[in-house]
Amino acid sequence: MSAELSSQRVGFIGVGFMGEAILRGAIAAGGILPKNAWVYDIRQDHAEAVAEGHGARAAGSYGDLVREVDWVVFSAKPQNLDEILPPLADALSPGQWVLSIAAGVSTERLAAGLPDGTPVVRVMPNLAASVGEAATAICAGARADDSHTDLAEELFATVGRTVRVEEKYLDAVTGLSGSGPAFMFLAIEAMADAGVQIGLTFEQACLLAAQTALGAAKVVQERGVHPAVLKTQVTSPGGTTAAGLQELEAGAVRAAFAAAVRAAAERSRELGGG
Ligand SMILES: NC(=O)c1ccc[n+]([C@@H]2O[C@H](COP(=O)([O-])OP(=O)(O)OC[C@H]3O[C@@H](n4cnc5c(N)ncnc54)[C@H](OP(=O)(O)O)[C@@H]3O)[C@@H](O)[C@H]2O)c1
Repeated sequence: MSAELSSQRVGFIGVGFMGEAILRGAIAAGGILPKNAWVYDIRQDHAEAVAEGHGARAAGSYGDLVREVDWVVFSAKPQNLDEILPPLADALSPGQWVLSIAAGVSTERLAAGLPDGTPVVRVMPNLAASVGEAATAICAGARADDSHTDLAEELFATVGRTVRVEEKYLDAVTGLSGSGPAFMFLAIEAMADAGVQIGLTFEQACLLAAQTALGAAKVVQERGVHPAVLKTQVTSPGGTTAAGLQELEAGAVRAAFAAAVRAAAERSRELGGG
């Protein structure tokens, strides 16, 4: 049986935007106990401030962090990998494992820089981790088993919703939910601008557009009904919504979203060297 997250001592390497968001969510949800959360950042004063802010503990070096924890979350940037992996590898003991959120870094590349047999889990969250609504995909590297992916799932469930995928689909995930917040921002902006064009203030229009997007997303999640069915339910024959939908289809919005997700996924594959 898997260990529970709350029994785990977890160390974060790099507590910038994402690292701190995950730490904050996990501690607020009781997923990680503050006394079991360790952070290390290249800026020691920053690490200490983050630790203090969440009741966690700051380590003075990679070795100090690794000594105190059961597993490590790599939440620094991909470009810092080469400076972090060697000292991390030196510090790790058998039984410890690594979860990475570094975009575009394969489990194979991570494992190659770590001691033989170190389990590795790769995770792709998105920026909504900062508001507890991340869409996160989780995949296991060669040495990881369910005990590792279960803990990863438990951790990321504290900052949103999770799915498990095979690693070959992570570029697709990056195209959909990694880049997706920007696509949604554009849709909200376009709706808000349209509201302004027909007389609302931007503040009114933006509130209405963002809340409408949030509400529609919640209906899809909570009712578990195909979005096409929900769309049909709110579209009266000859009514306002039918008139609007006709314009969206004429503007090829569906095709534009499909092309955007495909292009972002393809770019992710190129950047990852795949
Ligand atoms: N942001 C997103 O929406 C998002 C989404 C999915 C995945 N990710 C992944 O999440 C990871 C973190 O992204 P982020 O946006 O949180 O970046 P970030 O805000 O720059 O955080 C990275 C942190 O790591 C620190 N750092 C740099 N070099 C280090 C080293 N050698 N050892 C320890 N700490 C070091 C940075 O310090 P300095 O600021 O001094 O460099 C910073 O505090 C990345 O791998 C990214 O691919 C991010």
